[in-house]
Amino acid sequence: MQQKKKEIKINTKYPSVTDLRNRAKERIPKFAFEYLDGGCNEDVNLHKNTSEIREVELLPYYLSKHTGSSMKTELFGHTYDAPFGIAPVGLQGLMWPNSPEILAKAAFEHNIPFILSTVSTSSIERISEITEGKSWFQLYHPTEDSVRDDIIKRAEAAECPVLVILADVPTFGFRPRDIRNGLAMPPKMSVKNILQVLGKPSWAMNTLKYGQPNFETLRPYMPKGLDLAQLGKFMDQTFTGRLNEEKIKPIRDMWKGKLVIKGVANEADAERCIKLGLDGIIVSNHGGRQLDAGESTIKPLVRIAEKYGNQIKVMMDSGLRGGPDIARTLASGAEFTFLGRSFMYGVAALGKEGGDHTISLLKTELQQVMEQVCCEEVKDFPNHLL
Ligand SMILES: Cc1cc2nc3c(=O)[nH]c(=O)nc-3n(C[C@H](O)[C@H](O)[C@H](O)COP(=O)(O)O)c2cc1C
Repeated sequence: MQQKKKEIKINTKYPSVTDLRNRAKERIPKFAFEYLDGGCNEDVNLHKNTSEIREVELLPYYLSKHTGSSMKTELFGHTYDAPFGIAPVGLQGLMWPNSPEILAKAAFEHNIPFILSTVSTSSIERISEITEGKSWFQLYHPTEDSVRDDIIKRAEAAECPVLVILADVPTFGFRPRDIRNGLAMPPKMSVKNILQVLGKPSWAMNTLKYGQPNFETLRPYMPKGLDLAQLGKFMDQTFTGRLNEEKIKPIRDMWKGKLVIKGVANEADAERCIKLGLDGIIVSNHGGRQLDAGESTIKPLVRIAEKYGNQIKVMMDSGLRGGPDIARTLASGAEFTFLGRSFMYGVAALGKEGGDHTISLLKTELQQVMEQVCCEEVKDFPNHLL
């Protein structure tokens, strides 16, 4: 059945991601905002992501023939309405109750991809139902082969078209704010955190309405009645972040859909992905949350896209905060882009309207850039790179 085209309508009080971020900060408890907003260590990589991408400049051609601009983008056999999607984010329900469901629904209605994280607060099955089998799934690597195989089978049964395996969390990032807030994997509720909750009534009311967030996809593998310390231990034992070729090969053999690795940060790893038969890579540094001494993503993107762009689908995330950033990334060689925080700021700021608003905002901004520079199709963006 042909999907109805979603109307683009934005809330005029929040016409930028910065506005949404500011509102989110007012509306959710400090420990939740800082978990979302922060990078790692001294936040150097976080700031480089957002500043270096903005050094990319585009050339407008005002006198060229223009017959209209379309954001439609073909990726892995599906034509999306825009060249951006929603990156996987863990613990989403902590930042705003029901947020994975809100974002998945908005992504489905706008015909853009939503990626569910293994450690988000909704299940593969629920998100697949909301998106009619269109959402992608991101896998944290389980220690036990049986858990890995079971999760992969569930993703297949839920008709996920794309499985994303994560490469850039061999260890959890060192995040001083989360340490100070007592927010670990999983979150701890200290008296200080509870006081912060009391100051944010709409967050607290919604949390009461939807219940305490839980790792819904992992429920079948978790013993019942774990206290927080035991839950932390369970997570450590259940997942091993460090990926290698031996771990990727059986997944490639098992998974019949498209397979993507997220967290590629250099040419050598990109080449490995091609040799292993991957379908795509997301050049990413996890939004600056893992290696403070690393490069911003736009730099390796340029090198990787130039060298391997004709052999594998090259996508990018980290540091994008609006339509012009999406345009800069596409002009620098990415075929598709993802954003993490921007969408979560939107939902934290506006609740159930937040997904629709943020996608509409990004579509409006990107359409404006395309018309301004005289770019008719997304694939032509590199012609506008200065
Ligand atoms: C709060 C938060 C939680 C995240 N959790 C995950 C996760 O569970 N799995 C994953 O693959 N990436 C995770 N990421 C990384 C995002 O998928 C994405 O790479 C990053 O947010 C992109 O940078 P941006 O926020 O600047 O757009 C997380 C990012 C944030 C901000």
